Amino acid sequence: MRTQVGIIGAGPAGLLLSHLLHQRGISSVVLEKRGRAHVESRVRAGVLEQGTVDTLVAAGVGERLLREGLPHQGIELRYGERGHRIAFEKLVPGRSITVYGQQEVVKDLIAARLEAGGDVRFEVEDVAPHSPEAGPYLTFGGERLDCDVIAGCDGFHGVSRASIPEGVLRLHEREYPFAWLGVLARVAPSSKELIYARNERGFALHSMRSPEISRFYLQVPPDADDGDWPDERIWAELKQRLETVPGFTLATGEIIERSVTPMRSFVAEPMQYGRLFLAGDAAHIVPPTGAKGLNLAVADVRVLTEALDLFFSTGSADLLDGYSRACLKRVWRAQHFSWWMTNLLHTFDSDDDYGRRLQLSYLDYVTSSEAAATTLAENYVGLPW
Ligand code: APR
Ligand code: PHB
Repeated sequence: MRTQVGIIGAGPAGLLLSHLLHQRGISSVVLEKRGRAHVESRVRAGVLEQGTVDTLVAAGVGERLLREGLPHQGIELRYGERGHRIAFEKLVPGRSITVYGQQEVVKDLIAARLEAGGDVRFEVEDVAPHSPEAGPYLTFGGERLDCDVIAGCDGFHGVSRASIPEGVLRLHEREYPFAWLGVLARVAPSSKELIYARNERGFALHSMRSPEISRFYLQVPPDADDGDWPDERIWAELKQRLETVPGFTLATGEIIERSVTPMRSFVAEPMQYGRLFLAGDAAHIVPPTGAKGLNLAVADVRVLTEALDLFFSTGSADLLDGYSRACLKRVWRAQHFSWWMTNLLHTFDSDDDYGRRLQLSYLDYVTSSEAAATTLAENYVGLPW
């Protein structure tokens, strides 16, 4: 079996890459270890930068996104007894975000790939990349797939990065002393826009998926188990952390999904080893506070598509050789922004009064200075591609 690009992983990175390559006449095979239903129902973040929306629309997979996605012109920072709006329409005119669940993006991409006759294989066992320095190929379930290039789009726990010999990559990592409990609930959102709440009990985020479905996150201890969080406890905690502003009441409803996500910052560089290219979570992870994970994956894939197009149409590896450098510039900006948002809004060591005062001072600054608010806004909606 032979293809031009062997893609490991059918998350947003692998699927979008396969789709964009197909549009440029480049063949690919996507090998995914989980089943289609699992991949399509995995609940993840749901904030798309303007550039991500534009990319999906230009690629012809934005029809449902434009119909069902919720465009937002601002977010609220809530602390003390007040909410402060960061107004994108004023601070970064013409740029906004769209709330649309990541698994909806994945569904749209799978549908588009299959409709175009794309080769996307689910429940594939034992995928392994080989020989990226010489003639790359993949093995899986007793079969062999020869290819010119391997794209490692298999997330943080995948095989692609792990297959690169020790010493080649520089790994940068930071762990946080907390996790997020994510909750999906059948209840109309209590706010039109996202609320990022700093609270002495811990951070809380009110997000949404549709006029009927709300999405919430709670800062919880790093070893928390979702079994520790029965519905009543979740609602009680969300109310304590969010109902801090006069007149605001949190509507409650049926909880339909809950899971605990660790918080981590991680970068592997370079994002390349021979003809193996890493994209998305396989190469970098951000804590979800800035909602950058999916957007970074899309940015990587855009760069990789251009580089592969040049390579397959002219034989020039110039852009491929610059892939890692081009991506890492954006990756590191998002690393800093996500780390900064996380530090600004979470509760750290309760004895660290100095740290607490610094946090509150910066919150006061970012909610009163237009320059500081613009810094937040332009990073949040996404810096130009
Ligand atoms: N073989 C084949 N597939 C694999 C393997 C493997 N050994 N290991 C992992 N996979 C698959 C996973 O099952 C998953 O479907 O690779 C896919 C990786 O997808 P994601 O984790 O969604 O990563 P990515 O496509 O880079 O998207 C980044 O996803 O994790 C979120 O917050 C992150 O929003 C960001 C986005
Ligand atoms: C989400 O809606 O899932 C979401 C929103 C904002 C974030 C993270 C996740 O910062």
